[in-house]
Amino acid sequence: MPILCEAPVGARELMHSIGGEVRAVGNLRAAAQLLDSDPAEVLVVIGPDAATHEALAFSAALRLDRPAVGVVWARDHVDVELLTLALQSGVREVVPAGDHAALAAACQRSRDVSRRMLTAAPAEDNESARDGRIITVFAAKGGCGKTTLSVNLGVVLARDLGRKVCVVDLDLAFGDVAISVLLDPARTIVDALPMAGHLDVTGAASLLTTYRQGLAMLLAPVTPGDAEKIPASLVGELLGVLRTMFDYVVVDTPAQFSEHVLTAMDASAHHVLLTTPDVPALKNLRVTLDMLDLLSYPRGIRSVVLNRADSKVGLSVEHVQRVVRCPISAHVPSSRAVPVSINKGTPITLDNPAHPVSQAIIRFAQQRLADAPGSGARFPVSLSRRGRRSG
Ligand SMILES: Nc1ncnc2c1ncn2[C@@H]1O[C@H](COP(=O)(O)OP(=O)(O)OP(=O)(O)O)[C@@H](O)[C@H]1O
Ligand SMILES: [Mg+2]
Repeated sequence: MPILCEAPVGARELMHSIGGEVRAVGNLRAAAQLLDSDPAEVLVVIGPDAATHEALAFSAALRLDRPAVGVVWARDHVDVELLTLALQSGVREVVPAGDHAALAAACQRSRDVSRRMLTAAPAEDNESARDGRIITVFAAKGGCGKTTLSVNLGVVLARDLGRKVCVVDLDLAFGDVAISVLLDPARTIVDALPMAGHLDVTGAASLLTTYRQGLAMLLAPVTPGDAEKIPASLVGELLGVLRTMFDYVVVDTPAQFSEHVLTAMDASAHHVLLTTPDVPALKNLRVTLDMLDLLSYPRGIRSVVLNRADSKVGLSVEHVQRVVRCPISAHVPSSRAVPVSINKGTPITLDNPAHPVSQAIIRFAQQRLADAPGSGARFPVSLSRRGRRSG
């Protein structure tokens, strides 16, 4: 549904020319927010009310971020200078305000161009497609901090490393990524079901919810029973498409080795294994490590993160290291600030980047995950584990 940026007074007439249902907003900031929350939108009309310099900046930014979105301007005065500036900013068409036929035709042409760009996208994208790294965050014991770490890694990779990141909530039955950042789960992974077998970039984009600049999220189902409808093959297909769209795809998981989790691990360039310094969590981490060895995942793509590292529970870091028999890549301290940030709906790395918990996560992301996208070892999604198990 196209977005129209215009004050209510002039909006009604313009809406009529655009045709069909239109979402009208009063300023460009609101238009940008609406656009962020709707990755499938392809048309923005900017009415004469918006200041020219703001409309130029908006259009120029959009041309880089969302080239498939067409921007059409309706202006009170159209002259060569304005047209030149508009074209330089990537505006598709400029029409005189009041010329309804011209606006209707411009909108139609823009829609056609977008449609052609999007249908051509998968083929054309092959050369410029991203080769993103999939990072699966896993712990076989519940409550170790998987969701907290996944969301905060998403924030850090997007903000501090300036990458395009998607967090995928693969905890299909009890996912809480959405609630931990106060996102409305209007679109979830369940909406991918009709696209199974022929999912493309446009389809995948329509499933995502934008959280902030550079960070999108694929949310878990909310309706009871929906989780069971998602086949593991769809997870593989989704991850395969998402890695062509993002530099990093961070996968939050449930606390068990489901077929879905193994599919994500197959597709991953990096496995982040979480534990806390207590005996059950350590025992489960040891079992997980043995299992991953058995499945022939390379040890080099693994990082063990000790969450609540300073908890006073009688187990020292040395003890933990002896039990898990592998180096610990990050020690994230325990702090009340973590549940407080979750209850506020703002990840701690956003709320307080200087906090020791944030600093530990930022250091970990920089030291262990910041390689060039796509450079990590990764099993092709199509390579079956069964093949590797028996091999
Ligand atoms: N470093 C930390 N310090 C204090 N509390 C923490 C820390 N990390 C996580 N927590 C708290 O532990 C609880 C569980 O965290 P989280 O939901 O991230 O774990 P999870 O592994 O995703 O759990 P589940 O298995 O249920 O999905 C949350 O209340 C969170 O606030
Ligand atoms: Mg969780």
